[in-house]
Amino acid sequence: MSQNPYYPMIPTILDVDPGVDDALAMLLALKAEALSVRGITVVSGNVPVDRGVRNALGLLDMFGFQDIPVYRGAGRPLVREPSHAPHVHGLDGMGDVEFTASKATPTGDSVDYLVEMLGLHRGELVVVALGPLTNLALAEARRPGVLRNALKLVIMGGCIRSAGNVTAVSEFNFYADPHAARAVMGAGAETLVVPLDVTGEVGIAGVEIRRLAAAHQTPGTRFLKAASSNALGFAATTTGTEAIKLHDPTAVAAAAWPELFDVERLWLDVEVQGEITAGQVVADLRPLLDPASRQGRPVSCCVGVQADVVLERIREMVVGF
Ligand code: BDR
Ligand code: CA
Repeated sequence: MSQNPYYPMIPTILDVDPGVDDALAMLLALKAEALSVRGITVVSGNVPVDRGVRNALGLLDMFGFQDIPVYRGAGRPLVREPSHAPHVHGLDGMGDVEFTASKATPTGDSVDYLVEMLGLHRGELVVVALGPLTNLALAEARRPGVLRNALKLVIMGGCIRSAGNVTAVSEFNFYADPHAARAVMGAGAETLVVPLDVTGEVGIAGVEIRRLAAAHQTPGTRFLKAASSNALGFAATTTGTEAIKLHDPTAVAAAAWPELFDVERLWLDVEVQGEITAGQVVADLRPLLDPASRQGRPVSCCVGVQADVVLERIREMVVGF
């Protein structure tokens, strides 16, 4: 895989369920000089997979990156019934804004693409997963060991010490497909988890979004203002604060600028059976001397973030688009 010798960009696959924050994350990844996006795989999550594919294609048209291929992935979780998030992202996933459909069609199947790319480019690719982990789990089931070929998996999902955002203890991406989350955590790949604990630190208030849109009338601020209005309303009525959290862009930031994050090695597992705890991350934080006696598998986990710097980079990207 060829690289720019003057600026070593990391070849990256984005796995998404767009999703307003997925849309902003896509733009950030496409614009970040550290990353070179090679393909986009779509999974059922915030919206059903066909709507997600349509959104991904439309977003690439809007952002001017029509040459990047989009792949259609899993239409449902491994075991559980599908759950979507229209109350946050709108029925269309884009905050129910007028969104021009693309004439483009998906290039192929997400799982085929992941298996092929990770087989061809061992140790070179970063996969940034911003939705339920179904596509990655299916790739691992199809070709056991294939996820270990990734240079790194960067996963937005779960919560360790903070509260959940779907149930008291579960974050949406892990809740939507806990079996997939568990399988991917246990795959032994080089993994960086970016949980709600840090993504929840990177938020933007409605008043700031409106100020940005008034001060800088660019396609980026117009999109942010229109697409976030539904999510801002949902946040205001459920939490009393009119602000959105930039979960997926923060995970992209962790892939592009790891120096902005504090990382710890933690032993994690994911609850799949609990009646009221499905999707909960079980972190073994016991002070045990023998790592082998810990529950779960060791993964790197973001535990701190320079939230102001990350937010400023996201803001710059939105204003500059
Ligand atoms: C995650 O859930 C989705 O709604 C967002 O797009 C993000 O990936 C946050 O819990
Ligand atoms: Ca997402």
